[in-house]
Amino acid sequence: MQKTLNPRLYLAPMEGLGAIEFRKMLAVIGGFDECCTEFIRIPMNPHLPSLVKDFDPLATSPVPQAVQLMGVNAKDLADAAVLLAQKGAHRIELNCGCPSNTVTGKGAGSSLLDTPENLYAILSEMCEKCPAPVTAKLRIGVNDDKNFLKNIHLVEKAGCQMITLHARTKADGYTHPARWEYIKVAKQELSIPVCGNGDITTPQAARDMLEQTGCDHLMIGRQAARDPLIFHKIRATSPLDETTLLLQGLETFFFWIQKRGNPLGSIKQLASFLLTNEPELKKSYLTTSFENAKHAEEKLISLIVNRLTANL
Ligand SMILES: Cc1cc2nc3c(=O)[nH]c(=O)nc-3n(C[C@H](O)[C@H](O)[C@H](O)COP(=O)(O)O)c2cc1C
Repeated sequence: MQKTLNPRLYLAPMEGLGAIEFRKMLAVIGGFDECCTEFIRIPMNPHLPSLVKDFDPLATSPVPQAVQLMGVNAKDLADAAVLLAQKGAHRIELNCGCPSNTVTGKGAGSSLLDTPENLYAILSEMCEKCPAPVTAKLRIGVNDDKNFLKNIHLVEKAGCQMITLHARTKADGYTHPARWEYIKVAKQELSIPVCGNGDITTPQAARDMLEQTGCDHLMIGRQAARDPLIFHKIRATSPLDETTLLLQGLETFFFWIQKRGNPLGSIKQLASFLLTNEPELKKSYLTTSFENAKHAEEKLISLIVNRLTANL
């Protein structure tokens, strides 16, 4: 890295992909500093203890696991944050980026970017009550950047200890190239650490983001599914035996998803990430009608193992 500052590397929260099983796999492979649960929805009138009961802060040990919350009611979110911190979560993050209509229709996720006063009220109450550090993960805005500066300053003013910027608007979805220039602006405007996110797919891209934006830390999502060794590559640490490490990680993934009963969805999702740049193959693999689920699993598992080890 050209910056003297040692950036922390974060695994992005990613709903699906086997969720906890995916994080367990990556924790075995390692190379990053922290992961985060996918969002836990805090609906209206929640029964908080049941919503937070499955969180196990040690599930990805030795990699610490933060928790992401999504919702719209400040009191409920703050109370959930307190319960989770008492369970051992060392960081609680508010999701202010999810583009899904079911979520945004209720004012949560990326909709908070259009209601800065609500964003501030929620984060202030979370920061005030929660004994663990509170952070926020934002997109630039919903359709444009009209609230961008206001929102990032409110995140800081509320007492958050870090801001993560997925440098796209909601309207950009996941395909428009990430707009790193907004990460640079956030870094210039704020005193709290800024974690840059969006389109880090190679060690060079990681260096470029640090250089071009001056951000403090980096978060990686999809590339971790395509190349679980990406963090080691960025750090330029060489695990003793990359193949063994990768296979141990995959073994962990398949072990845990088999345990949960219906693993095919997670296996298909991981396979589809690995075939992102091969649409024809992706179509043929993921639309094939296999004789039975077991047969489909076996086929896809061998595809995943072949693709991932091909990166070595
Ligand atoms: C399958 C998938 C699930 C995601 N789930 C979440 C989530 O639960 N919470 C969240 O804040 N972002 C979520 N994201 C967004 C990622 O955390 C990240 O911001 C985005 O993928 C951009 O980073 P990347 O270019 O490194 O993938 C998800 C992304 C994907 C692809």
